[in-house]
Amino acid sequence: MAQETWNAVERYFCDLLVQPDQSLNAAAADGEAAGLPPIAVSPNLGKLLMLLAQCIGARQILEIGTLAGYSTIWLARGLGASGRLITLESDKKHAEVARANFARAGVAELIELRLGMALDSLPQLAAEKRGPFDLIFIDADKENNTEYFEWSLRLSRPGSLIIVDNVVRDGKVIDAANSDKSVQGVRRCNAAMAAEKRVAVTALQTVGSKGYDGFAVARVVG
Ligand code: SAH
Ligand code: DHB
Ligand code: MG
Repeated sequence: MAQETWNAVERYFCDLLVQPDQSLNAAAADGEAAGLPPIAVSPNLGKLLMLLAQCIGARQILEIGTLAGYSTIWLARGLGASGRLITLESDKKHAEVARANFARAGVAELIELRLGMALDSLPQLAAEKRGPFDLIFIDADKENNTEYFEWSLRLSRPGSLIIVDNVVRDGKVIDAANSDKSVQGVRRCNAAMAAEKRVAVTALQTVGSKGYDGFAVARVVG
């Protein structure tokens, strides 16, 4: 049982459950055509982000790591009335592709893309007293996951959801001796979430077109 089966089952569920959406498909296609890495969330995970945003009636969303804006568009579709989304991206080319994708998807008015290193943008958001964000999606460089999680706590409120992508990394997450900086970053953040009394947190493993990975979901409780 491996990649081929995971792909086929993902296709089955996406065909069955995820309504075709021209602008989402085009966003993914244009990202890849522009040479961006093919690491956006899968359609079924994108739809989960939208559903979670809708479940909590999210009106303020923060995303760390835009890429071509594929997950951003899903999240924007989950925004309640008069909702707004801020997405942080350090790569100018990614930001350009994403902005074009937002316009085509009809969500550009709802989204503020901040170009820059997330560790510069996050304190800026705090200084501007932005937030509290109802949902925060952490999906940028994994080395800084812990810092992103800590800023997310500062920018959230009790009841907010913090979702962290890519917490399994082909199972490498359980290898404390793994020297990969991303794996170390993911492990350090997982430990920080576990130790943090202000959140209730769980994590899920996923398989599919993006291989074997997973995400963590934390609910801010205090
Ligand atoms: N959320 C996207 C995928 C994001 S990929 C989706 O699922 O569709 C990770 C993105 O984070 C890349 O575009 C990368 O350029 C960006 N990134 C990496 N390091 C960053 C940093 N320090 N600050 C802001 N963005 C960063
Ligand atoms: C990588 C980053 C991601 O956000 C992702 O979803 C998959 C892979 C990466 O940097 O390898
Ligand atoms: Mg990711």
